[in-house]
Amino acid sequence: MSEFQQLVYASRATFAPTRGHSSIDIEVARILTISKRNNPRRGLVGALYFSNGYFFQCLQGPAQAIDTLYTQLQSDPRHRDVKTLQRKPIAEPSFSEWAMKYVPNASEVRSVLQRFGRSAFDPYSFDAPIVDAMVDLLRLGPDGSARLSAGSEPATVARSWLWPALAAGVAVIILLWAML
Ligand SMILES: Cc1cc2nc3c(=O)[nH]c(=O)nc-3n(C[C@H](O)[C@H](O)[C@H](O)COP(=O)(O)O)c2cc1C
Repeated sequence: MSEFQQLVYASRATFAPTRGHSSIDIEVARILTISKRNNPRRGLVGALYFSNGYFFQCLQGPAQAIDTLYTQLQSDPRHRDVKTLQRKPIAEPSFSEWAMKYVPNASEVRSVLQRFGRSAFDPYSFDAPIVDAMVDLLRLGPDGSARLSAGSEPATVARSWLWPALAAGVAVIILLWAML
């Protein structure tokens, strides 16, 4: 069996939606913060989709790390009725850039649902083809290559403050050099 596995599950949020000033629910934002902190050191990557009060999460990484997190996840009071939709060996993680890619209620997901004759997002009713289509969409975007517009930042991409900070650093060095 492959060292790497992919696990996809569905669950129901137990919390009432709370948006605050952000477009991301406060509880979901907390989950993403924990995921982005923990997943890289466990070798895990993946994506989280949250819509209609349901979570749809895809996790990829070493089988043992997935087991450990999945056990932890099942006793997390922020969701319930955790249902495994898919678990399979993979050659290597394909969300490699993402500690946990967050995809909010994207219009592209509605297109996938329509393609499979679904009117609402209910991951408990998903069979293998729609699970695969959802995972592909979360990973690649609607045309199989582009990023979903609503995704959060990749784990390894430079933050927006990095370039201005670098430019300021270079300017200081030039200034000091000119003063010598
Ligand atoms: C829907 C959902 C998805 C989650 N995904 C992750 C995840 O990818 N990685 C993670 O470390 N924790 C995730 N969590 C949180 C875990 O259940 C748990 O709270 C966390 O791993 C504990 O981390 P800590 O021991 O560092 O406090 C998720 C929780 C929920 C409700």
